[in-house]
Amino acid sequence: MIKAIMSDLIKKQILIGISGGIAAYKTAELVRQLIKKGANVRVCMTPSACEFITPLTLQALSGNPVHTDLLNRNAEAAMGHIELARWADLIMIAPTTANFMAKLAHGHAYDLLSTICLATQAPIHLAPAMNRMMWANIATQENRKVLINREYFVHDPADGEQACGEIGTGRMLEAQELASIIENMFTKKQPLSGYSVLITAGPTREAIDPVRFISNRSSGKMGYAIAKAAKALGAKVTLVSGPVALDAPAGVQRYLVESAKEMHHQAMTLAKTADIFIATAAVSDYSPAKISTQKIKKSTDILSLELHYNPDILFDVSHHYPDLFTVGFAAETENLINHAKQKLQRKKLNMIVANPVGNNKGFDKDTNQLEILWENGHISLPEDNKNKLAKELLLIISKHISKDS
Ligand SMILES: Cc1cc2nc3c(=O)[nH]c(=O)nc-3n(C[C@H](O)[C@H](O)[C@H](O)COP(=O)(O)O)c2cc1C
Repeated sequence: MIKAIMSDLIKKQILIGISGGIAAYKTAELVRQLIKKGANVRVCMTPSACEFITPLTLQALSGNPVHTDLLNRNAEAAMGHIELARWADLIMIAPTTANFMAKLAHGHAYDLLSTICLATQAPIHLAPAMNRMMWANIATQENRKVLINREYFVHDPADGEQACGEIGTGRMLEAQELASIIENMFTKKQPLSGYSVLITAGPTREAIDPVRFISNRSSGKMGYAIAKAAKALGAKVTLVSGPVALDAPAGVQRYLVESAKEMHHQAMTLAKTADIFIATAAVSDYSPAKISTQKIKKSTDILSLELHYNPDILFDVSHHYPDLFTVGFAAETENLINHAKQKLQRKKLNMIVANPVGNNKGFDKDTNQLEILWENGHISLPEDNKNKLAKELLLIISKHISKDS
């Protein structure tokens, strides 16, 4: 019996670009998965890529001749760079080498693949893969920023063991993840499409004097993971972020702030046009009553700081915009569920997400554990990667808003 293919990729024209990195072997599996989902796949390889995996393999998997040469008279006659550029509904370059990112950032067109990228109107997705030092190199990071600003979709590499034996960020995303990313681009209605999501993330800094401040250990990783996942699920995403060492996720509008008061002002303004508000930021409850204009000198054994209560962003947003679906985060070191329930009621939230912090948990980690509570319900998400938890949380939120609306 032939099983019917249920996929948004049926007959979609996907051009897979391969540049010369070790991860090229994973792209064979990506092509296989796309074909299985019903896509028409063509493959274009840089000359270097052909040293890593043979065009014959990709030809057999895609069922189409593989394109490798720019200046090839026969290939031009069959399907040249302009034709391929027009043919594609979407281009995914996997792996994208550091060299290829540089070529794209500078608009070079001296191989077939980079020429197609200049000539196409199709969305271009990049799955970089390289040694961790190459990825961290300022040149690569600058190129990444340029490409994101030019609306390339850059799917950052993952952490882990690398082919060179080192451990760090640089592994290409797995074939299955890339296939889902491509499929999501064609999914007509995504769980959050049509919704505007406002997220706060990271710590705040409360100035004491021109050089010192009060802050906390929040890295912003959870909020940024939620922003990235909300974008992938079809939402329009705005992020209000305290000082963190993270780049804005692709396609997300970010507002950088420092203090709780600045974050309050920005969130109150942006909440006007939002449908969902997710407050993950670790906002300082207090700030110094007076900020010294000069650096405070060592003068006495004991220095007392008078602290004043900061505006409560979550409370004010939920009370000022009662139609907004508000989700708070409660980072607790004890009595997790009880404290979260109290906060849910006191702040009039639709949902609260409690997560344990301290004892090496929560802050500045790549993993988290979430207890999601609402008026009459509770779901526990056991410890997992923050990206995965972010997606699960958003899917739960999407079910609640579709019930409400
Ligand atoms: C064994 C080997 C593995 C390589 N792996 C990578 C890699 O994973 N990522 C990368 O950016 N470059 C890698 N390179 C370097 C690229 O192959 C090189 O920069 C090449 O010029 C890329 O050409 P292209 O971008 O036109 O495909 C590797 C080189 C060798 C010899």
